[in-house]
Amino acid sequence: MREVAVIGAGITAFGELWDTSFRDMCAEAGVKALEDANVVGEQIDAMFVGSMSAGRFIGQEHVGALVADYVGLGGDLHVPATRVEAACASGGLAFRQAVAAVASGMSDIVVAAGVEKMTDVADATDVLAGAADREWESFAGATFPGLYAMIACDYMNKYGLTREQLAQVAVKNHYHGARNPYAQFRSEITQSTVLKSTLVASPLRLFDCSPVSDGAAAVIVCPLERAKEFTDTPIKVLASAQAGDTIALHDRPDFSTMGATVAAGNSAFKQAKLERKAVNFVEVHDCFTIAELCAIEDLGFVQKGTAGKFTEEGQTQIGGKLPVNTSGGLKSCGHPVGATGIKQVWEAVQQLRGEAGKRQVDGAEIGMTQNVGGTGATVVSHIFGRV
Ligand code: COA
Repeated sequence: MREVAVIGAGITAFGELWDTSFRDMCAEAGVKALEDANVVGEQIDAMFVGSMSAGRFIGQEHVGALVADYVGLGGDLHVPATRVEAACASGGLAFRQAVAAVASGMSDIVVAAGVEKMTDVADATDVLAGAADREWESFAGATFPGLYAMIACDYMNKYGLTREQLAQVAVKNHYHGARNPYAQFRSEITQSTVLKSTLVASPLRLFDCSPVSDGAAAVIVCPLERAKEFTDTPIKVLASAQAGDTIALHDRPDFSTMGATVAAGNSAFKQAKLERKAVNFVEVHDCFTIAELCAIEDLGFVQKGTAGKFTEEGQTQIGGKLPVNTSGGLKSCGHPVGATGIKQVWEAVQQLRGEAGKRQVDGAEIGMTQNVGGTGATVVSHIFGRV
């Protein structure tokens, strides 16, 4: 297997982009990534596009071909483009397919993109519910806020997590998002903002939830040995891991532990031959505040049941022991579901290049991402390092 590097990254603003179409978002992120990598279309061997539900969100299928066409890789160049779907982990999985294509030697220069346009439909909650078990969960009335609320109840009951500690995850992510010019919500909030916000699914309130968003992101990968042909600051992919679990939450032995995150994290650290303490920052899937706490525990950064206290102490904020979600996470940066996994890679690239501006983690050498599909039936995790 060949070693792989990220040589370019591009992103659109995340938010309610009423005046930007699905294809225009892809073109913007794709062109930015190509320019960043100093690569032209003729050099691209393949493309993978993560999108959860373009069919239901905008009535468009066949989005691999659509995106390739509109970024100029279709018509004359005939670049093979493949859509990848794993619910909210579609972007992370598209990136993993790109890494695999390069590592195997099948392709040399590959685009991994992620996109979703969610704000044009009235029934986003029902579309998202398709990521759970439709027959046994969604038909019974379980929405995604509802499923993660059950996780939060179980966790609070087992470990004594306080409502204030949970709120602090959102406060910290809005603090980071206020420093990210591409974030959907760029305002700082207080615990009181969270605690007084509308109840969505007890105990989760509006500010515990990621929003419904539009956005796209793209990155370019190539063999590490060729990376310096394109950029002085390639970012090495140290590990690429994926794990699965039951699709339905009720089939899990423990709601508060995401088994696929544990498995993917263990695999990633084994591949990278690193200890947890080597990681300088992590982008995790905080679709709801409780998910961030479970993620940093299940990845092995802190003991089970202690992530709330760790967050309350400020250890997950920039300047703390383990900055978590410096992009603002899904909560503040936004969550256009298919784009999120690629956005996480984009943020890792900004941090490791030292180009994250006001949200830069000093001396960042190693970063990790964790992207979740559904309530954890798919988890994709990557570790990145400076070259
Ligand atoms: N955090 C903070 N503010 C939010 C928000 C969020 N998650 N979602 C919406 N808002 C704000 C809007 O900006 C708007 O503010 P304004 O009145 O000042 O313009 C206001 O709240 C109402 O927005 P609206 O779009 O009507 O909200 P909604 O009630 O339809 O939806 C949620 C709110 C929480 C139900 C929705 O964002 C949601 O379903 N989130 C979860 C998405 C999800 O499940 N993703 C997959 C995870 S696995």
